[in-house]
This record gives sequence, structure tokens and C-alpha cells, in this order.
Amino acid sequence: MNLIANSRFKFFPQFNDFDRPEWLSSRQKLQPQFADEYFNSDSLQDKFLQGIATDRLLPVKEVLESFELFGRVRKCVRRPVVADLCCGHGLLGILFAMFERDVEHVILIDRNEPLSRQKLIAIASRIAPWVADKIDNRVADVKISSDWIEPDIAVVSAHACGVLSDLCIDVAIKTGGPIAILPCCYPRSACVAPLALQTQFGIEAAFDIDRTYRLEAAGYRVRWGSIPQEITPMNRILYGSHRG
Ligand SMILES: C[S@@+](CC[C@H](N)C(=O)[O-])C[C@H]1O[C@@H](n2cnc3c(N)ncnc32)[C@H](O)[C@@H]1O
Repeated sequence: MNLIANSRFKFFPQFNDFDRPEWLSSRQKLQPQFADEYFNSDSLQDKFLQGIATDRLLPVKEVLESFELFGRVRKCVRRPVVADLCCGHGLLGILFAMFERDVEHVILIDRNEPLSRQKLIAIASRIAPWVADKIDNRVADVKISSDWIEPDIAVVSAHACGVLSDLCIDVAIKTGGPIAILPCCYPRSACVAPLALQTQFGIEAAFDIDRTYRLEAAGYRVRWGSIPQEITPMNRILYGSHRG
């Protein structure tokens, strides 16, 4: 039973029916010549992508993943405060700061800070000066007891590995704000879904079904979506808002 959905490119329609699909999941850094070819308009997004490419900051896959996730969930989850948990380079949160007027404060939080994060913030702020004022960059573990957790914060996360996605859900339930996550790395040992779901649908779907029920039981209306599978096979989005 195939429970992996696929979808078309939304932010980058130029990659639908693309003749070099292997490039879309490439770990190769986004290069200036790619930006010249595919992101060459004067739009804000293309200027940002040109800046990322000039500094060869991020792999193609990471760039496409964050933009396509953002494009799908931005309307559903935008709130004055958005927290990008386990943010790594932080691109997802930076996109909220750059493109969403109603987002005033973006918390980027991860226990590690790759060099790319500060550089991305700098490039984004050069192109869109309002970004710098919105970013609250933190190097720390995400904890359910963290002092930055307040009511109605939006929680977003791209590829928070394994049970870190569950931690994102716990944080969202605590804030009561909307959530959008793109889970990855589904460890069998941590799967609490009924065995029947695991055997019938596979570990990954069973994990996410269980997460869906947990959020629904906490008052959320949950939807599933996907980013194009050409970017990553770990492409399922769980997103939802509190019914209250
Ligand atoms: C697969 S990476 C995803 C990074 C980024 N969101 C992305 O889209 O590329 C998972 C991240 O989780 C971070 N991490 C792991 N455990 C953590 C914890 N307890 N609290 C905060 N960050 C954590 C790691 O440092 C890593 O950057």
C-alpha cells in the first residue's frame, strides 16, 4: 500500500516535468550558474536565491525543501511569532521573516549552529532589511520547559529527526498555536502506533497516523500534505491548527 503522496512544485513551477530530476535532490551546493539559469528574475525570492548561490551556502536539496515546505504551509501557520525548531541553517524560519508581513518575530533554535545560519541571516537581511529585526537566533536544546514558549506561537520544522518531530508536537500543543512539520527518520523502537498500523501501512505512515491522532485529541484539525518527492522521499507534511 503506497501511502507516500507526491505533489507538483509550487514555489518553483519551472521544476515540474524537469529533465534533470536528479539535480532536485542534489547535495551539491547551489551554484551561481544554476541561479543564473533558474532564478534570474528581480523578484525577492530570486534575489535571495542568487545570494545563497553566490556564497555557495546550501545544497540544492535543502534550498528546494525549505522553499517548497514554506510555500505550502505559510498561510495556515503564520502568526506574529513563529518558531523554527531544530532549524539547522534556519532557512525555513528566515522565509517566514522575509515573506510574511504578519510575522513579527521568528525564533530560530537548534542545539548546533552551522556557519551557514549567520551567513543566511546576513544575506536575507541585505536583500530584505526587515528580516534582521525579526530574527531571534538561539543555540540551545528545544525543551518543553523552554522559557520562550508562549501561547499561540506557530511551530514549524523541516526534518526534525525521529522523536524530535514529536517534541515539536509537544511544544505546539503547549502553545496551542498552529504547527507544520516535515518529519524524517522514523525509528521503529520509538513507534507507539498500534502494531496493526505498523504492519499494514509501514512504520512511517503508522508514526504519522499516531501523531495525527495525538494532535486531534489535543484539539487540532490536522491535514497531510507533501512536497515533491523529487526533492526527498521524506516528503510528508503534517500541519494543523487548533480548533479553538
Ligand atoms: C536533520 S537536521 C534538520 C535541520 C534543518 N531543519 C534542515 O531543514 O536542514 C536536525 C537538526 O536537529 C538538531 N537537534 C538535534 N537534537 C536537538 C535538540 N534536542 N534540540 C535542538 N536541536 C536539536 C540538530 O543539531 C540538527 O541541526
